Amino acid sequence: MSILVTGATGKTGAPIVAELERRGAPYRAGVRRPDGSPEQVRFDWDEPGSWGAAAEGIETVYLVKPPIDPVPPVRAFLDAAPWVSRVVLLSELGRERKPETDPERAVELLVESRNATILRPNWFHDNVGPGGGWGEAIRRAGEIRLPTGDAALGWVDVRDVVDIAVIALLGEDLGGVDVNGPELLTVAELAAGIAEVSGRAVKHDAPSLAEYRAELERAGTDPLRVAYLMDLVTDAATGEYGRTSNDVERLLGRPPRPLDDYLAEHADYWR
Ligand SMILES: NC(=O)c1ccc[n+]([C@@H]2O[C@H](COP(=O)([O-])OP(=O)(O)OC[C@H]3O[C@@H](n4cnc5c(N)ncnc54)[C@H](OP(=O)(O)O)[C@@H]3O)[C@@H](O)[C@H]2O)c1
Repeated sequence: MSILVTGATGKTGAPIVAELERRGAPYRAGVRRPDGSPEQVRFDWDEPGSWGAAAEGIETVYLVKPPIDPVPPVRAFLDAAPWVSRVVLLSELGRERKPETDPERAVELLVESRNATILRPNWFHDNVGPGGGWGEAIRRAGEIRLPTGDAALGWVDVRDVVDIAVIALLGEDLGGVDVNGPELLTVAELAAGIAEVSGRAVKHDAPSLAEYRAELERAGTDPLRVAYLMDLVTDAATGEYGRTSNDVERLLGRPPRPLDDYLAEHADYWR
């Protein structure tokens, strides 16, 4: 059994690689720019020529999709590697309720025949921290700008996603898994939590959905990325991410990690 971890530099991929290494599991870390170490192999969704060597002899793939237009490359990759018999897909909460034309849902359907585990996490705590999309704006301007209004979300600690992914990568087919945190919090409450631990003012700056779209378009964001992001924030604003579930406790035998843990660990980053 061997494992290819795609997105191996990312929020879930990097800690998954570290855990597989710790356990002595056979794996390859697929990265766009390998550092020359034997564990790393070049893997770029935009370069089909890199896929064959990365997937050679691999049984199980941890699949982090390309960020834009994921269906054609994921389909082509799976076709090119028919020997890959198991896939652990990082998807998103609620995608099973989307139409088949939704790209994220379409990727779920593509991997279904490969003994798939489909992880469907809520929004990550880590988005507000180092390496997260909103961390820098919090440090620079003390704000999180998101069109989510007063809607609450079931924020999740990436480590819970990682712990479940590792169980699946090491051989258990888990099917669909919702990965939620233990509590529902609005973005304003999240901002208040950061303010409390860091001792600096942090606020939720909440544009309308239309304003947010206009900003993305003015910034020259790829139209497919705009469509993806608008779908995501619209779902969040309408309460679709206001969910908790018992999957973490069922699979890990402990409750999901609370936001307070994450805030305490990263207080220095925001100070
Ligand atoms: N963030 C959340 O709150 C959240 C919640 C639920 C689900 N998810 C899902 O998590 C996935 C990852 O999102 P994230 O924002 O957390 O990012 P991330 O995993 O932290 O980073 C993206 C990873 O993908 C790699 N990558 C990007 N383009 C690539 C390409 N062309 N070929 C190969 N690798 C490429 C990046 O490599 P480089 O280092 O080379 O750029 C990086 O390792 C997404 O599919 C998203 O739907 C995210």
